[in-house]
Amino acid sequence: MPDARPIGLFDSGVGGLTVLRQVIRRLPQESTVYLGDNARTPYGTRPDEEVRRFSLECLDELAGRDVKALVIACNTTSAVALPDARRRYAMPVLGVVRPGAAAAALATRSGRVGVIATPATVRSRAYSDAIADEDPGVVVIEHATPELVPLVEAGRLDGPEVEAIVARSLAPLLAGTGREGPAGRAAGIDTLLLGCTHYPLLEPIIGRLAGPDVAVIDSATATASALAELLAVTDLLTPEGHPAGHVQLTTGETGAFERTAERLFGPGFHAVESIALAGVA
Ligand code: DGL
Repeated sequence: MPDARPIGLFDSGVGGLTVLRQVIRRLPQESTVYLGDNARTPYGTRPDEEVRRFSLECLDELAGRDVKALVIACNTTSAVALPDARRRYAMPVLGVVRPGAAAAALATRSGRVGVIATPATVRSRAYSDAIADEDPGVVVIEHATPELVPLVEAGRLDGPEVEAIVARSLAPLLAGTGREGPAGRAAGIDTLLLGCTHYPLLEPIIGRLAGPDVAVIDSATATASALAELLAVTDLLTPEGHPAGHVQLTTGETGAFERTAERLFGPGFHAVESIALAGVA
């Protein structure tokens, strides 16, 4: 039966807004509730057990708001806790790793894909496994870039210092593309997958550093398409003519969150509300 309830989207912080933007573009009739756990970001440098616990606390909050489906708009949580979330909730739960992996496997011509992600995502090998499921012939070179999420959370998206940090973070992967950083191994990639939903906010710098011969892709568009398909096959699409509404929640301060939201959605996007999670001091 068509269902006008909202879709819940979750990320450790503002990164999942890059997924929300594509979801709103692809499914303009759908309502959303977005929750960023900005008070406890970053997740990607935490142990798996903590990522799992924090993520389920946030997803419980969304599930308690009568959403019809959950999108885990965070690679770290998708890599570490997707099976736990699927067992826990009686609704469709979509992660971002599979859609991103499928897009990367399709994009590469040389069969060498670089993935930048948080340490927890790299440790899980979720991308290597998911890309191998799509095409076992693709070589995946995963590289942890823990300095990038704090930059994005702080709203630092450009300037010489940010460029230097991003260049240092990418150097081992860009060796062998003609865009060598210092003494890294020759990765020789032709596709660079942004395996963290915060990273598309640094895409102008990353794209410049990668150069014209490397396709930079992220999972947001592919995830929005996968969500559209999921809602269609489960008969959960919002009926036509129903007005869409959007709610943004953060466990942290609203100021920095609003600035990033404004960058992505323009002025006048829905106000951000700061909330305390049930059971979290
Ligand atoms: N956006 C999250 C991801 O995609 C960032 C993780 C973090 O908080 O470190 O992995």
